[in-house]
Amino acid sequence: MKNQKVVLAYSGGLDTSVCIRWLQERGWRVIAYCADVGQGENFRPVRERGLKCGAEKVIIQNLRKEFAREFILPSLQAGAIYQEKYLLATALSRPLIARGLAQAARQNGAIAVAHGCTGKGNDQVRIEVSLKIMNPRLQVLAPVRDWELTSRQAEIAYAKERRIPIPPKKKSRYSLDQNLWGVSIESGPLEDPWEPPPADCYQWTVDPAKAAARPEEVRVEFLQGVPIALNGRKLELVELIERLNKTGIRHGVGRSDMIEDRLVGIKSREIYEAPAAWVLHTALRELEQLTLDRETLAFKAAAAQRYARLVYDGLWFTELKAGLDAFTEQVMRRVTGTIQLRLFRGTCVPVGRKSPNSRYAKGLATYEGKDDFDQKAAAGFIQLFGLPYTPR
Ligand code: ARG
Repeated sequence: MKNQKVVLAYSGGLDTSVCIRWLQERGWRVIAYCADVGQGENFRPVRERGLKCGAEKVIIQNLRKEFAREFILPSLQAGAIYQEKYLLATALSRPLIARGLAQAARQNGAIAVAHGCTGKGNDQVRIEVSLKIMNPRLQVLAPVRDWELTSRQAEIAYAKERRIPIPPKKKSRYSLDQNLWGVSIESGPLEDPWEPPPADCYQWTVDPAKAAARPEEVRVEFLQGVPIALNGRKLELVELIERLNKTGIRHGVGRSDMIEDRLVGIKSREIYEAPAAWVLHTALRELEQLTLDRETLAFKAAAAQRYARLVYDGLWFTELKAGLDAFTEQVMRRVTGTIQLRLFRGTCVPVGRKSPNSRYAKGLATYEGKDDFDQKAAAGFIQLFGLPYTPR
């Protein structure tokens, strides 16, 4: 493959830095592509390193807005939570990065794309399945899956031999992936499922035991399922999430520690931090409880599990996903209103709710004197409701 271009998903880390050179040595012209999904990275050194490693171009694309509106929002509205604990921060970013790669390939005349995922994780599946759906003709390369550099030391030695810059020493003994929606933390001491998460594994949140001694209330306003304001202040989704992350972080909200089932059959120990994501999921769920009828709620809860699996499995660009989105969109038309939540030492609980579309009727629910409920009608209802189970 002489002198053809490949677009590499580039993070600036050791793996993908070595990937640049490895691809080059196999005759590729490498374009490094870096998507900003809110990982809080300083992209200046990333660009410089990419160029020094041999990329002929480094593209850095700000996708935070798209990430929030097209990926985070539908997943929030669908109520997607994988295995009860994971709000899918990493999983949601992958189809977006894949889309960016495919676009960059088209714009730069590349015939291939490459990524630095290992062969043991979900991300390779998410990226490659998304790419296949969007452009089956694009060749996909996964150097880390194929090469002989099986340890960090081997990669460092490879880089040193070739005098390519090695990223500054790893700050963390964990494997991390961060974006606007949360952090995923794996490996190191976490690989023992009996070992409690060491304090240093948490990247964002304060220890709930050491969090602020007073609870703090936040008010989230939704318009048809879209969070539009925080504490009375209208905000764009990206900024709303960023602000809510800051608040959640102070109160140690949004941590989870789980044994997760990967798509490739491996169980793995994962730590997640997703403060804003948990607050928003909790708030939206509460508002749905106020505004939606029981059958819709039940159906939606079942659909939510399916949706979470689909996101986890990298099936973002599929018809099932689009169909479930259409259902959610229909349902969200009613979900307008305000939720007040109390954040305190790792917890986030709804304490107030109101909506112009509320289905709560005090006149029906009240135990205090005169009401609108015809109690006499209950007797007939019970007779028919119990009929199928009543012995003849
Ligand atoms: N297990 C999670 C997922 O598959 C997170 C993987 C993120 N990678 C990392 N280096 N921590 O979505």
